[in-house]
Amino acid sequence: MTGSTVAVTRPLPDPGVAPLEAAGLRVVANREDRVLAPDELIALVAGADALVCTISDRIDATVLDAAPGLRIVANVAVGFDNVDVALARSRGVEVTTTPDVLTEATADLTWTLLLAAARRLGEGERLVRSGRWEGWAPTQLLGQPVWGRRLGIVGLGAIGRAVARRACAFGMPVAYCNRRRLAPELEAELGVTHLALDDLFATSDVVSLHAPLTAASHHLVDARRLSLMKPTAVLVNTARGPLVDEDALARALDDRRIFAAGLDVFEHEPSVHPALLGRDDVVLAPHLGSATVAARSAMVELCIDNVVEVLAGRPARTPAPG
Ligand code: DGY
Repeated sequence: MTGSTVAVTRPLPDPGVAPLEAAGLRVVANREDRVLAPDELIALVAGADALVCTISDRIDATVLDAAPGLRIVANVAVGFDNVDVALARSRGVEVTTTPDVLTEATADLTWTLLLAAARRLGEGERLVRSGRWEGWAPTQLLGQPVWGRRLGIVGLGAIGRAVARRACAFGMPVAYCNRRRLAPELEAELGVTHLALDDLFATSDVVSLHAPLTAASHHLVDARRLSLMKPTAVLVNTARGPLVDEDALARALDDRRIFAAGLDVFEHEPSVHPALLGRDDVVLAPHLGSATVAARSAMVELCIDNVVEVLAGRPARTPAPG
């Protein structure tokens, strides 16, 4: 393993690349905090034994072709839709992710957006900052209640469950839809009720998305599903942008088909649909789900553990599912 080369596409939070160097690995890193252009990524990875990358890097055939000696693609993320996992594995390249360590941070951010969207916090904050706020008014910025309302969770993996557990504190019954229904004991433990997807959209006061992006989940929230929602409902997405058809969402908000949305992820990230950018009833966050000091450090540590294990000829700690 000593002397193997690890390509790192982006400056990382603590502990950074120091543990890789301490393990005797040679690090070639992009030291600028920006996404590499495809040709820059190819140049960086050529000759590498391991690649540490982020969700902003597309790891496809051209990248894999450029690095015939590659043994691992270690994504600093729980999601991995930016990596062609099947192709990598077919070439003997392991793909790893960083699950669990960001679960609670992402659940917290989900609730931040849920509350902010339901209670019109973005609008309120802008009003105060504008200097145009004239004081308390009986009709001002009336939002939707959260306490006791029904939360619908799409995708009850680790993050969906962490979001569900928090619902108890808000007296919210939780319905969920998942590719595989949970065992009855687990449903009882989490206090969740299984619903078909359309029923979940039709009956929930808040719908929160926690499904991975796959061909099947692309535009899972389209015009038809939005039309099923209550006019008072809030949509929250901290999973992946393309789960939502943003054109359809903008139209649904225009037509007051739903009340508001809280979005941490976008269909064409980092671009945001212009019709959403201009709206007051959408709370927008710049993909902050895992953005706490502790979560990001833990992600880097886990990613580096995976690199060290695989380069040492041992199994990865957290291989990408599938
Ligand atoms: C992930 O981990 O997949 C997030 O989207 C970024 O932290």
